[in-house]
Amino acid sequence: MNVQDAILKRRSVRDYEDKEVSSDELKKVLKAAQMAPSAHNDQPWKFVAVKKEERKEKLAEAAQQSFIATAPVVIAAVALNPGKKMSCGVPSYAVNLAIAVDHMTLMAAELGLGTCWIGAFSQEKVKEILGVPDDCKVVSLLPLGFSADDSKPKRRKDLEEIICNNKFQ
Ligand SMILES: Cc1cc2nc3c(=O)[nH]c(=O)nc-3n(C[C@H](O)[C@H](O)[C@H](O)COP(=O)(O)O)c2cc1C
Repeated sequence: MNVQDAILKRRSVRDYEDKEVSSDELKKVLKAAQMAPSAHNDQPWKFVAVKKEERKEKLAEAAQQSFIATAPVVIAAVALNPGKKMSCGVPSYAVNLAIAVDHMTLMAAELGLGTCWIGAFSQEKVKEILGVPDDCKVVSLLPLGFSADDSKPKRRKDLEEIICNNKFQ
């Protein structure tokens, strides 16, 4: 599968088959995060792969999204330096982690696996469940598994609406 196909194939999956993700598949997905670019190549991240049923249930509860626990693996993406800003004024941690997480979603698509970005969760509760230090920030949870979701067409704005030529309009 090429990058274009993976981008078009990836969609948010909110129901997962009761089927394990192999350690080889999981490693490929995590390696995609490892290879992501980051500001100054700091690689200021940790990825917590959660497979324990009880812990996944707790994460689903912390996000108030029960489908999360149906995935065989949930990956928590953790930023190690959430205070750091780029000279443009934008915090780098969210950008770094977003790229790494999206690398994982695309690699998962290539492997025939589904994912769903999860940004709605209690920061405090997730930190407590996973033992994440106070000075870090959990940026996203990423359920990973085989999709049991019906395929839905992507809803997107028209290209003309989001692209400007030469000047913001
Ligand atoms: C930063 C971010 C946070 C998101 N948080 C959630 C979430 O908490 N729960 C959820 O079901 N989907 C969440 N999504 C998924 C979006 O709803 C989804 O990407 C969007 O509707 C487009 O659909 P698609 O991913 O299938 O293309 C999130 C996506 C992003 C990028």
